[in-house]
Amino acid sequence: MRTTDRARVLEIDRVSVRFGGIAALADVSFHMAPGEVRGLVGPNGAGKTTLVNCLSGYQRPSAGAIRLGGADTAGWSPSRLRRAGIARTFQAGRLFAGLTVAENVEAGLLGLGLGRREAASHVQAMLRLLDLVPQAGRLAGTLPYTAARIVSLARALVHSPAFVLLDEPAAGMSDAESGQLADLIASLPSRFGCGVLLIEHNMTLVNAVCERIHVLDGGRTLADGTPADIRANPAVAAAYLGSEEAAPCSM
Ligand SMILES: Nc1ncnc2c1ncn2[C@@H]1O[C@H](COP(=O)(O)OP(=O)(O)O)[C@@H](O)[C@H]1O
Ligand SMILES: [Mg+2]
Repeated sequence: MRTTDRARVLEIDRVSVRFGGIAALADVSFHMAPGEVRGLVGPNGAGKTTLVNCLSGYQRPSAGAIRLGGADTAGWSPSRLRRAGIARTFQAGRLFAGLTVAENVEAGLLGLGLGRREAASHVQAMLRLLDLVPQAGRLAGTLPYTAARIVSLARALVHSPAFVLLDEPAAGMSDAESGQLADLIASLPSRFGCGVLLIEHNMTLVNAVCERIHVLDGGRTLADGTPADIRANPAVAAAYLGSEEAAPCSM
């Protein structure tokens, strides 16, 4: 990827999404600097996945704008956004169970217009970087859960995105596994040159890797700041009361 591409800012400018009577997002704004690792947290139903859907072209905002390097992405398809440098993972993984690990990673290059040889070299490089070479020929449907999530990450990273959006990548992982994932996520800006938007309920993980955290509640911005700011914010603690999820301030 060219240096100019890397220097792009991802701008979320007063974005709202309505589903009938539900305001899934209401007037949400923040910027992501190139190479920034930012957390996006909030109780279930807060609007986190809806925002990732907007950023990656799966959902059109009802109001507001999303700009990448100053270009308004309104109406861009997921594949156009992918080509422009926005990659994502899905909450439910979504690997092709009947394809091999290598083929699943290669699927991340579909629609990017690469020749077979170029695609294969990108896939091999990614498999090496994420220690997936021994698994390359294995069917994705036979992988243990954590390995499957790493393959999803490899698929998102395979074409050097400017930003990767990770929707609850540590869900279902043990503490040791999420610790390893934290190291991997923290290394993404230096190893892959990309920024990361991390949706995650595991606040130990979020606090360990994020420079800033954006907190949503009921579709609205509740707080934005450093992990220390968020831990000290009484409104954030209150939003999590009565929820079985861990409050950011309890970590
Ligand atoms: N496609 C949809 N149609 C209708 N309502 C939706 C849709 N997607 C999400 N919602 C609603 O929008 C709100 C935010 O959901 P979501 O973005 O999935 O939250 P989170 O990822 O923070 O748990 C919830 O009330 C949810 O039920
Ligand atoms: Mg979600």
